[in-house]
Amino acid sequence: MRGFVGRKMTMVAALMATTGLAAGMAAAEDVEVLHWWTSGGEAAALNVLKDDLATKSIGWVDMPVAGGGGEAAMTALRARVTAGDSPTAVQMLGFDILDWAGEGALGDLTEVATAEGWDAVVPAALQGFSKFDGKWIAAPVNVHSTNWVWINKAALDAAGGKAPETWEELVAVLDAMKANGITPFAHGGQAWQDATVFDGVVLGMGTDFYKAAFIDLDPAALGGEQMAEAFNRLIKLSTYVDANFSGRDWNLASAMVINGEAGMQMMGDWAKGEFVKAGKVPGTDFVCIRFPGTQGAVTFNSDQFAMFNVEGDEAKAAQAAMASAIMNPVFQSAFNVVKGSAPARTDVPNDAFDDCGKKAMADLAEANTNGSLFGSMAHGHAAPAAVKNATYDVITAAFNGEYADGAAAAAALAEAVAAAQ
Ligand code: BGC
Repeated sequence: MRGFVGRKMTMVAALMATTGLAAGMAAAEDVEVLHWWTSGGEAAALNVLKDDLATKSIGWVDMPVAGGGGEAAMTALRARVTAGDSPTAVQMLGFDILDWAGEGALGDLTEVATAEGWDAVVPAALQGFSKFDGKWIAAPVNVHSTNWVWINKAALDAAGGKAPETWEELVAVLDAMKANGITPFAHGGQAWQDATVFDGVVLGMGTDFYKAAFIDLDPAALGGEQMAEAFNRLIKLSTYVDANFSGRDWNLASAMVINGEAGMQMMGDWAKGEFVKAGKVPGTDFVCIRFPGTQGAVTFNSDQFAMFNVEGDEAKAAQAAMASAIMNPVFQSAFNVVKGSAPARTDVPNDAFDDCGKKAMADLAEANTNGSLFGSMAHGHAAPAAVKNATYDVITAAFNGEYADGAAAAAALAEAVAAAQ
């Protein structure tokens, strides 16, 4: 036994001598990246990034933490930072980025950002989460939005063929799909998925209402009649899921729509990454629409790579090189075509994008101009994590029938949000 260990040690020592590395340690030029892109479509998009970095001799040390919406990833991150072992770059959303910046945990990308003119091409709504105290702390790779519905085209045709534009039309299509013997609404019962659907439902009650409730956290809006109606709608939607919805991952719900087992999924446009990965074509195999009643408005979330403090010039250089690669307009096109999102830069041409991608880019620009672009509550862009998590609890309880009615849920929401602030 001792001989074996001795031999192994000698081999490791030899390896260290040839590579200049301690065993298991990343090269200084490597970046260790913590992310939650583990579904088929997400992994395909991640590969676009990995391959791009490889061409620039930036090595990749992967730290995937599965779980849509990133809650599990954020828990893993906290443990790593507490242990004094921060990753180089972390996929992160909205207020979480600002929280980590406030803790002094993030590095400074201002030099590369200034040299490359990021200020001029990244929309202000995103910059609000990429900068802290005037410094760039994160590189935005995309803009997703949550108020989308993904519909199986054949199932829609069988249900009358017209994509729903209002709440009433949505209910009529869901009823028709039910009558046709398929699961109308493909859903995974996880808090972040329930909340993602609720973004669209609340936005469907009006842009002023979404802003008052979810951005301004106005207690009267959170606990009032419109919120009661929003919860009644969510409770209605919960009647269209199948018996096995509880705990299902979002990409498995997407697969149900892709294979025609279900009619539609209400999910952010990362779902399109699954359709594309499966070789499906918008307009032919599936239809993408804004959540009925939210046309012209967008609830967005932007994946950004927050850069943590790293030691040493080479590590800092690798970090800056990764950020620069992410912000390259050619890369932003290639990546977002696969990911299902819109580019984080306003100067990326839409030529390579499919019809849903072109719509995502046009909707974003329109909503930005009209003042109807809002941060997603479900994905950390409307309020800090404590408030977001408080909404999750009430939304999930409502989806699972734990309140007598929407009014009771709205009252609980107002109370939970007040307590979380
Ligand atoms: C992220 C997406 C991701 C989705 C599901 C969202 O919060 O912004 O990039 O695909 O979660 O995992």
